[in-house]
Amino acid sequence: MCGIFAYLNYRVPRTRKEIFETLVKGLQRLEYRGYDSAGIAVDGPRKTATDINDNTICLIKKKGKVKALDEELYKKDSLDLDEELSTHFGLAHTRWATHGEPSAVNSHPHRSDKDNEFVVIHNGIITNYKELKAYLITKGYEFESETDTEVIPKLTKYVYDNRENDITFSTLVERVIQQLEGAFALVFKSRHYPGEAVSTSAFCVLRPRQSRGWIQVPPAPPGPLASGMLALGRRLLSRVQEKNSHNRPDCTNNIDSVGDGRAVEYYFASDASAIIEHTNKVLYLEDNDIAAVTGGKLSIHRINRQAGEDPVRAIQTLQMELQQIMKGNFDAFMQKEIFEQPESVVNTMRGRICFETNTVLLGGLKDHLKEIKRCRRLIVIGCGTSFHAAVATRQILEELTELSVMVELASDFLDRNTPVFRDDVCFFISQSGETADTLMALRYCKSQGALTVGITNTVGSSICRETDCGVHINAGPEIGVASTKAYTSQFVALAMFGLMMSEDRLSLQQRRLEIINSLRDLPELIKKVLAQDKKIKSIAEELYQQKSLLVMGRGFHYATCLEGALKIKEITYMHSEGILAGELKHGPLALIDKDMPVIMIIMRDACYTKCQNALQQVTARSGRPIIICCQDDTDMCKNAYQTIELPHTVDCLQGILSVIPLQLMSFHLAVLRGYDVDFPRNLAKSVTVE
Ligand code: F6R
Repeated sequence: MCGIFAYLNYRVPRTRKEIFETLVKGLQRLEYRGYDSAGIAVDGPRKTATDINDNTICLIKKKGKVKALDEELYKKDSLDLDEELSTHFGLAHTRWATHGEPSAVNSHPHRSDKDNEFVVIHNGIITNYKELKAYLITKGYEFESETDTEVIPKLTKYVYDNRENDITFSTLVERVIQQLEGAFALVFKSRHYPGEAVSTSAFCVLRPRQSRGWIQVPPAPPGPLASGMLALGRRLLSRVQEKNSHNRPDCTNNIDSVGDGRAVEYYFASDASAIIEHTNKVLYLEDNDIAAVTGGKLSIHRINRQAGEDPVRAIQTLQMELQQIMKGNFDAFMQKEIFEQPESVVNTMRGRICFETNTVLLGGLKDHLKEIKRCRRLIVIGCGTSFHAAVATRQILEELTELSVMVELASDFLDRNTPVFRDDVCFFISQSGETADTLMALRYCKSQGALTVGITNTVGSSICRETDCGVHINAGPEIGVASTKAYTSQFVALAMFGLMMSEDRLSLQQRRLEIINSLRDLPELIKKVLAQDKKIKSIAEELYQQKSLLVMGRGFHYATCLEGALKIKEITYMHSEGILAGELKHGPLALIDKDMPVIMIIMRDACYTKCQNALQQVTARSGRPIIICCQDDTDMCKNAYQTIELPHTVDCLQGILSVIPLQLMSFHLAVLRGYDVDFPRNLAKSVTVE
């Protein structure tokens, strides 16, 4: 959705230029979360470096990408770039518009008034903003933007102006957010509290339910939301014991306060990619936490804390390298991530499959395996690409678990008030672990008593933390907005789950062996598919000026069609549809003529003959299909306008190979059409609003 970044230096002299650079770099790392406008808030000119008590706040905002903001920063003659600020707090934000068009005025930070007494950056949504705005207007406040966010700084000023006694910045913020409804992560800066920072995240939404009355979605148990991350400064690290033993954030120390008045730096960010170059020590804010930095000391407390409630949070050590989030020799993150798939699938399997004993152990699920085996049905829920991973693996899950498997789009699942029972097991598939629809579906299933399982790529994400158990797919950071390597890793993780469930089924041993052997060979086969990049590019050169592109297949490849079409539409802006070949004669055939480009996936599996029928129906209407088929399939080569030949693997994993040509095709089409592959218009990587 939006990207939040803030930087506080306490008794660490930094020039304004250095502060600008830190803020802009942080935003660039978060730009995939939103990129229609960006802005920062920094202190204006000071009399002396240490004089923070008479400061002004300067807002600089610009429509467009962070690059445009960066250029704008250096145009402000009134700001001396070399001025040294020994203590300073700066906010930065990159936006993905929800309320109000992309423009400088709608971009963040938003302010309380013309003097910028309070400024705020926000990720999420304020659902009761209209009521609050109407109230504040009656109190004489004038609004300048169309956003929901603007009510927050204005309400803050209102509460501040009407306080009875002096209050701390965090108490003020606490009073403000008690009036807000919605899902939000916020960072506040104020002229009245110079050099201080307050940040909070909360998820408390009231959802109308037609048939069941109003359900209060319970305030989340530990869940950082994407934006509740606070990274600690380098100067503090010596005080935190290191313990880097595995591939997950490592809890090294529990704190409820940090800092002792000595020099320190703090970074606040929507996710780790923005802070990893500064520190690997992070602290995730949980919902309803308020973190405040005053006099260089960080403290955390709970909103409406109950007696005895413990606000202690763990400092975690991230096992992430900066180079993992850099583009390297590739032109785009998406391209890099497509080419990373031979390694990312290995990382998904690492330590979980033993090829000598043909056993699979997903550590995160082992304690719940008995319960899962006894369940009535599996419900696999996700959005977009993550939903497609569920569609892709449904058949193999049905076969290996011998359970009924439902796959559900999270939004539709919620709209239908789908009945869920205590003996259901619900899987939530999400790369980011923060997708609002999926998270809401998770909370709903939990409230119905079902066992919940997360399959995510983001350690410490809300879905990770709110599910009863889960699997981390370990694909590494995915920055490109179009999901690629996460899909293939989700696919592998779900297949491994099926294998783990079927370990004691004698009748399935031969099948299991075939799948396990194919998983072992998968990385090499993926490399062979990637080696066809040039050929795929040359096909893209023939297609890129077309308006539409159909992708057709069936059986194990229906999911590939849906996923391929999604990739094409989201980054090339061409119309593209994934068509189930079995449905061809029920309507889509009307689209076929000599001018309509069609990609068909026809692999040698149980659907081969049926797919050949579909091919004949297409060629009989003068269609000129591009066929993704098995290596050396001479029949296909004869009938196709073009072929992309893939190495053979077991039928249920073939979809991992068949999707890669479509990932590459969409990438080349988008480049040829002149679009920015990593930043498709109107989209964001992490969709944290419903
Ligand atoms: C498409 C894409 C989206 C996401 C969807 C769910 O390339 O990336 O369709 O798959 O928004 O996101 P996650 O997996 O983070 O829940």
